[in-house]
Amino acid sequence: MSNSDKSVTKTFGILTAGGDCPGLNAAIRGVCRAAYDRYHMNILGIAGGYRGLINGDIRPLHPGDFWGILTRGGTILGTSREKPFKSNEIGEDKVKEIKDNYRKHKLDALVVLGGNGTNTTGYLLAQEGLNVLGLPKTIDNDIEGCERSFGFHSAMAVCTDAIDKLHSTAESHNRVMVIETMGRKAGWLGLYSGIAGGGDVIIIPEIPYDIKAIGRHLKERAKNGRTFSIVVVAEGALSAEEANMEKKERKKIRNEMAYPSIAYRVAAEIETETGMETRATVLGYVQRGGIPSASDRVLATRFGTFAADMLARGEYGKMVAQIANEVGSVDLSVPAGKTKKVPTDDPILDTAVAVGTCLGV
Ligand code: F6P
Repeated sequence: MSNSDKSVTKTFGILTAGGDCPGLNAAIRGVCRAAYDRYHMNILGIAGGYRGLINGDIRPLHPGDFWGILTRGGTILGTSREKPFKSNEIGEDKVKEIKDNYRKHKLDALVVLGGNGTNTTGYLLAQEGLNVLGLPKTIDNDIEGCERSFGFHSAMAVCTDAIDKLHSTAESHNRVMVIETMGRKAGWLGLYSGIAGGGDVIIIPEIPYDIKAIGRHLKERAKNGRTFSIVVVAEGALSAEEANMEKKERKKIRNEMAYPSIAYRVAAEIETETGMETRATVLGYVQRGGIPSASDRVLATRFGTFAADMLARGEYGKMVAQIANEVGSVDLSVPAGKTKKVPTDDPILDTAVAVGTCLGV
């Protein structure tokens, strides 16, 4: 903890970008309260992620803006998926707009709260000479260099509650219920909520699934009197056959199948394979809504106040991260352009298997 109100950073801008999640406002509060109360910094709020920095949608934040927002879902700043380094048809130089606004508003630093896309843009802006500090936000928990991002725990609670609810209706109807979680190309959210909810089958992108293995597992359960089952499938999951295809071929096959989402396809494949009545549930955006869990409030606040201390020390070009269960930081090059996936030798996979979970193989 710093005990000086001296700060290298006098004025910084703050933005939230990418998918929203519970905990964003807790993190904003953590950064701003520490920066304002402890270091008397000037704070400029940037609306709508990087789009606000391009368009100059920037205004001063005062204590009334960041007090009382700890428990609020979403982000008071708004967000977007604007990608300034992605070239566009009209040839607008978004990076130049950003640099011009950064200077016009006399920013000493830019704090970006986001996932791997946001922190990748932050890294590229740091390469352009801006002083950038990233915070790891996403329900996917797929940010390289950070053990746990805020938003993940809150989404896991939503998914687990949904799985709990599906148990009773599955049992009443002797059905197989397939529930789809978010997580983009990583399986963290599906895996952890599947274990928390007692999923009988958990399918994640990192382990391409074999529908025959899943069928055998479900039929074995039925033979032992468990005539209902819960199958948790992460949205990025793919079959063993698809894993051997080129992306283009995979896309073509999926378009021909015309299932709205992977859960509906897996449900249809299970019915064909086993003859068991099967239904699909896609959780969608409820996983991103609501108020932050207590754990995410603490983690987001820790990340935020740690970032304020880093601003005071003039530490830029980094992303705050949970490392070995402590709050630290990594160079922005660490998450840039990467996705943290579930290692196939992660001990938690064996934990799932040890309690009888089928991982799709
Ligand atoms: O990155 C968070 C996330 O919710 C992913 O899990 C999901 O695939 C994606 O965002 C949805 O993106 P959008 O909000 O743009 O529809």
